[in-house]
Amino acid sequence: MTKKLIIWYFTGTGQCRIISEYIGTMLKSEDLQVKLVNITPLEARNRLQDNIDCDQLILVFPVYASDMPEPLRKFMERLKGGGVPILLIALWGNAHKGNAIYHAWKITSGNGFIVNGAAEIVAEHSYLEPVLPIIGNRPTDAEKQELVEFVRKQFKKNTSIKLTDNKDKLFIKLLCSLPQGFVPKLVANLDFQESKCNGCGICRKMCPTGSINQDFKVDKKTCIMCLSCVTNCSGKARTCNIKEIAKTALGHHKKVKNKDIFYGKGY
Ligand SMILES: Cc1cc2nc3c(=O)[nH]c(=O)nc-3n(C[C@H](O)[C@H](O)[C@H](O)COP(=O)(O)O)c2cc1C
Ligand code: SF4
Ligand code: SF4
Repeated sequence: MTKKLIIWYFTGTGQCRIISEYIGTMLKSEDLQVKLVNITPLEARNRLQDNIDCDQLILVFPVYASDMPEPLRKFMERLKGGGVPILLIALWGNAHKGNAIYHAWKITSGNGFIVNGAAEIVAEHSYLEPVLPIIGNRPTDAEKQELVEFVRKQFKKNTSIKLTDNKDKLFIKLLCSLPQGFVPKLVANLDFQESKCNGCGICRKMCPTGSINQDFKVDKKTCIMCLSCVTNCSGKARTCNIKEIAKTALGHHKKVKNKDIFYGKGY
């Protein structure tokens, strides 16, 4: 019988969509039907309900401020798993992966999902630009293939893995306790050129927090700086500009090898 795989992805700048599409394409077969759902827009999450009709769910999300994106965390806290196997994939920009995957595991395993695998993958940083070489060209083809093999193997498992709190340093804990978007707002400005705006409304639709008003201005209080509005703007009216001081500080990041990224591999 054909099995059903659903991939939910949350994305600001497209990395989680790219990796989700890759996994979906590689796994699709006569025996496995794959459905991808972009759960970034607020209304997309509002449409989803408990009783998820699939044999396997994959949740792909970016690390924001060393944690899950706040709108996604709140959504997952409300959702009932009903015994559906879920595999968690966190993409991070080589700054700090924090406790995002542990928090996602805690929420989903506590809500009745069977977490049959988890992975943390380095991907292009949302604030990447030529002058800011935080990280580029990741994940590599080899890393993507390894991820797909891992996912394929974990599907067959029907027991929950157990993750542990990685006991972040106090400084990181403090950063995580700040409103999401606080640090990015120190680092970058979101700019809007009204003259280029054609009124298409895509930015408002794709904003995960409902922060774009009727006149397309951003409510800075609720914006989490995910850059979804910039990525999706049809008129190129929105840009994200990194502040000079941050370019110097962030430019020092070195490329890391992504070690120990898979959880639940050996059980
Ligand atoms: C608001 C915000 C906060 C972020 N915080 C972190 C972080 O704490 N650590 C990190 O390594 N990367 C961080 N990143 C980078 C993203 O996790 C990374 O670039 C990811 O690939 C983005 O996925 P997306 O393109 O699907 O949005 C942050 C990005 C944004 C927009
Ligand atoms: S307004 Fe803020 S939260 Fe909304 S899409 Fe733009 S950057 Fe993201
Ligand atoms: S997506 Fe861009 S062009 Fe469309 S309404 Fe928003 S700012 Fe204007």
